[in-house]
Amino acid sequence: MRLILNGNEPTAIARAVEALHQGGLVGMPTETVYGLAADASSEEAVRRIYQAKGRPLDHPVIVHIAGSSEISSWAIDVPEYAMALAARFWPGPITLILPKAAHVGLWLTGGQQSVGLRAPSHPTAQKLLALSKLGLAAPSANRFGRVSPTSAGDVVEEIGDFLQEGRDLVLDGGGSQVGVESTIVDCTGGTPAVLRLGAITIEEIEQVTGMRVLETSTVRAPGTLDQHYSPRALVRLDGSLTDGDGLIALSEVPTPVGVIRLASPTTVAEYAHILYHALREADHRNISAVVAIPPQGEGLAAAIRDRLQRASHN
Ligand code: TXA
Ligand code: MG
Repeated sequence: MRLILNGNEPTAIARAVEALHQGGLVGMPTETVYGLAADASSEEAVRRIYQAKGRPLDHPVIVHIAGSSEISSWAIDVPEYAMALAARFWPGPITLILPKAAHVGLWLTGGQQSVGLRAPSHPTAQKLLALSKLGLAAPSANRFGRVSPTSAGDVVEEIGDFLQEGRDLVLDGGGSQVGVESTIVDCTGGTPAVLRLGAITIEEIEQVTGMRVLETSTVRAPGTLDQHYSPRALVRLDGSLTDGDGLIALSEVPTPVGVIRLASPTTVAEYAHILYHALREADHRNISAVVAIPPQGEGLAAAIRDRLQRASHN
């Protein structure tokens, strides 16, 4: 797989920067999941992201930036509470939806007047942003509706057929640390509203902003479709297990005879970290049904339950 280069090597990063400047696509490791990155100022490059993913054009993509100082290049009328969130949590797993600057193309925002911004903390992503001096449009690097990739190999599994050697590449930055996508906060209103749960919790957002956080919003966030994050296997959450089923549950849950244990995380953080890998593993092993026992509690546990619910929706 010569598409994959070691994301720790300066020469690999230099090649990726070159590819981005030429309008190519780069599989980019982030702390949440792997993204499929392109120059966010190039309509042609961003169109290729949509083609690679098979994603409808009215679904906006997140623009990744180096940090808070870049916000004003992409957004206007930024509320103080959004600046506070960026100051506290960037670089990190939180995406802010803000009113877009005039030059930001509607082909980037799915036709909306807002733009999603995130500064990722993964060192390889940070270097790509610093050296390219670009904003990087990057959705998760999976085919539309499928499980997000958490390794470079996953990216190739998802969209390798589309990527062209010499034009596009994937940087290997190891397994994604968090394992589920960023928390998305709509910052276009007077107070913050959470559109997607993630590692940054509602409690943390309330603490930093001193505001009550709404959990729903009228803003359209197509990643929040009912069905999403789906492997080929049927995912069930009812806890009823039969022979040949896969099982994903905290380690304290025993594995019945005849059931295939796909993951036994000992903590909620580990559950998030290995969830997508375990769902992918079910498909590799041709398992037709996976039972997941969701973790209890708030914060990241709630984000995991959200993803499992969508994966199980059919
Ligand atoms: O952790 C993440 O956020 C990963 C990594 C690669 O950064 N990215 C990611 O991107 O999950 P994607 O495109 O798979 O999901 C982004 C979600 C989509 O549901 C999209 O609709 C929503 O963010 N979104 C992006 N821009 C938006 C906007 N202007 N208004 C509303 N929703 C937006
Ligand atoms: Mg996605």
